[in-house]
Amino acid sequence: MTIIKQIPNTKMINPKILYYGFPVILLSTLNEDGTVNISPLSSSWALGDCIVLGIGLGGKAIENLERHPECVINIPDPSLWENVEQLAPYTGKKTVPDFKKQIGFTYRKEKFDICGFTPINSTTVIPTRIMECPIQIEAKVKHIRIPDYSPTFAIVETQTIHVHAHEEIIIEENHIDPNKWSPLIYNFRHYFGLGSKLGNNFRSEI
Ligand SMILES: Cc1cc2nc3c(=O)[nH]c(=O)nc-3n(C[C@H](O)[C@H](O)[C@H](O)COP(=O)(O)O)c2cc1C
Repeated sequence: MTIIKQIPNTKMINPKILYYGFPVILLSTLNEDGTVNISPLSSSWALGDCIVLGIGLGGKAIENLERHPECVINIPDPSLWENVEQLAPYTGKKTVPDFKKQIGFTYRKEKFDICGFTPINSTTVIPTRIMECPIQIEAKVKHIRIPDYSPTFAIVETQTIHVHAHEEIIIEENHIDPNKWSPLIYNFRHYFGLGSKLGNNFRSEI
């Protein structure tokens, strides 16, 4: 094998953000007075029944999860991008941190009012689900860690309790149909849907 010493057509850069394409999630968490906060997030990964979230400190979501370790991970599809963007400039934190004030964030407690989403009761956890999101995952927080090398956000490990899906995207009783379901992708602060299908993995069951 030949090792290429100088790679053509690449350049070392230092971008401010590295959102290289993640599904948007809307996290429902419980406020101290029993109302529900919605936080748009894109930092997540899922494996088995574990979903890990990256949540900035200084926001309402992490404050709520520390006090009440339950949430709903609602997953919007591309048709909902404008609803998501309506939520974007708000925080549920009454005292808006200075760094957020400077970039235009303001306080909003009742976020359901501004984004056109409908709350529905969850089966096990207290925070409500968002009816319009085709996938809604009830989850419990198992662990919260703040990395010492980057102490501005928390790594939140959750365990899935129930997965709810709109009937139109379910196939063969217990699968999400990838031909019908499409996540909303946050790609360097721009919203995208998925492109057309390219092929199947050798393990795909449907
Ligand atoms: C599409 C999108 C993705 C975002 N992803 C994240 C994320 O992964 N983690 C995070 O902490 N904030 C993320 N944010 C910013 C939060 O939504 C923002 O800090 C918001 O004020 C959080 O609300 P809260 O303070 O009421 O929890 C994202 C915002 C948008 C619009």
